[in-house]
Amino acid sequence: MEKIVILTGAGISAESGLGTFRDEGGLWAQHRIEDVATPEGFARNPQLVHDFYNARRAQALEAKPNPAHDALARLQREAKGEVVIVTQNVDGLHEAAGATGVMHMHGALNAAFCAACEHRWDAPLAMAPDDRCPACQATATRPDIVWFGEMPYDMEEIWQHLEEADVFAAIGTSGQVYPAAAFGQHAGRAGAHTVELNLEPSVNSRDFAEARHGSASEVVPLWVEEELSRQK
Ligand code: OAD
Repeated sequence: MEKIVILTGAGISAESGLGTFRDEGGLWAQHRIEDVATPEGFARNPQLVHDFYNARRAQALEAKPNPAHDALARLQREAKGEVVIVTQNVDGLHEAAGATGVMHMHGALNAAFCAACEHRWDAPLAMAPDDRCPACQATATRPDIVWFGEMPYDMEEIWQHLEEADVFAAIGTSGQVYPAAAFGQHAGRAGAHTVELNLEPSVNSRDFAEARHGSASEVVPLWVEEELSRQK
């Protein structure tokens, strides 16, 4: 049975109105990574970090999936084999489009996490430094987001999927953040056909056998259509 593994990044949600990180005027032009996306930044100023993710949570709740998210959900429904979606995105737009089993390697805005007892629960719209964990009552509540210097989630399972992949596609990601940036090379060496779908060549586009450049809402539905007809 054929296995398709897909990695998505901020570019797939750009046309849903969610800003990317590294494009001109992106999130990392407006905020310092070390202030809002590291454990040290959170320890220094938890209010600032909560404010940043509260704003992103509110924005993500307003956003609607675009034709690229819809096409990947369709691929999952209609492909003959298994379609695994791994995302670096913390929005819930793949699920909103109907995708299932999405692996959120960098965490999710809709979850809260207790650093004291590791309990997870649904994040309220706005989180605050003195929120108590509903399980252990500690005030060690944080957004369930993987920050720089922390280990992304589900890595063992993800490497395994990449090794078993027949096709690997990276969509809307600049290829600047590891370990996700190494997935193309890893899957390719393990025998997958690799394809990059992005607005422009990513920094590691040489790791991919094929590239399709353009906006996600255009190139992804076309690619999905081709994958489905190839399987017929
Ligand atoms: P980036 O902002 O680094 O890259 C977004 C990519 O999407 C760029 O290569 C753009 O060219 C492309 N892009 C922009 N608009 C697009 C469109 N409409 N269609 C297709 N592609 C488009 O975002 P990521 O690669 O996702 O991690 O960033 C990876 C990680 O870095 C994030 O998960 C986040 C960030 O720091 C953490 O916060 C831990």
